Amino acid sequence: GKVGVLYGGRSAEREVSLMSGAGVLKALQSKGVDAHGFDPAARSIAELAAEKFDRVFIALHGRYGEDGTLQGVLEQLGIPYTGSGVMASAIGMDKVMTKRVWLNHGLPTPRFLVLDSQGTCGDELDKVPEQLGLPLMLKAPHEGSTIGISKVTSASEMQSGFAHCAKYDEAVLAEEFISGRELTVPVLGTGRNARALPIVEIRAPQGNYDYQNKYFSDDTKYLCPAPLDEALTSRIQAIAVNAYNALGCSGWARVDFMLRASDNEPFLLEINTSPGMTGHSLVPMAAKAAGVSYEDLCVDILRSADL
Ligand code: DAL
Ligand code: MG
Repeated sequence: GKVGVLYGGRSAEREVSLMSGAGVLKALQSKGVDAHGFDPAARSIAELAAEKFDRVFIALHGRYGEDGTLQGVLEQLGIPYTGSGVMASAIGMDKVMTKRVWLNHGLPTPRFLVLDSQGTCGDELDKVPEQLGLPLMLKAPHEGSTIGISKVTSASEMQSGFAHCAKYDEAVLAEEFISGRELTVPVLGTGRNARALPIVEIRAPQGNYDYQNKYFSDDTKYLCPAPLDEALTSRIQAIAVNAYNALGCSGWARVDFMLRASDNEPFLLEINTSPGMTGHSLVPMAAKAAGVSYEDLCVDILRSADL
């Protein structure tokens, strides 16, 4: 049947999605799939309906693509789509709600506070480092690709860090900083069939895996499978699958962790329900380590739209 690859979109991660979608489109076509690109930023929902796609591959990141809103449209149109449904997409797009669900399931995630973007005053900001320690992370809860994130290393940086994040969202997540190794775990499948791919470890220049180092730098080093002993590898993969299922995810996602240096304890940071599929992206890297090519990975993910 006719397959739509949805990419581009209106979020701050548009540029990343253009790279992801171009890769997915080409891969599916190379496998003989009748795939067509569709950019919801350039075209309307009526046009999407008129395309009569039999299924769609969502290669959009961020708002209006990864956050459940588009998933709701596709449900209404009766078009099967890749990845999580409305609820898991919406929760997964919100770092605060995600952490609340994980805590409820007894899963480890760094301590945090939620600050109102408009209503938080200087005095309240001063108290945050007292509660969470320094350094700490400030994050716009609904962004991705390290957009709307500040690392605060001294109390004097709270105000500017907060102002930066508050531009992006109604609330700002203030989170304890976990010093250690940065890991990510792709999960494929749904429910009992959900399984983790090999763990990827990210070693960014100066430990700074930001937008530039994610997509453009060749200085970021990736180790896959991450050099961890077997027991810790299995434990982290199990936490990733539990974190995925706790949110009710389906199809595929990528779960980001910090592994605390002092005691090798893993902490869940966030989930990406429509992860990057660019040339620098981590799900394709883990799939490759598991012997699955980029093209076969795309076909596998597309198949999951029908389940
Ligand atoms: N938000 C980006 C696309 C990722 O997690 O891969
Ligand atoms: Mg993210």
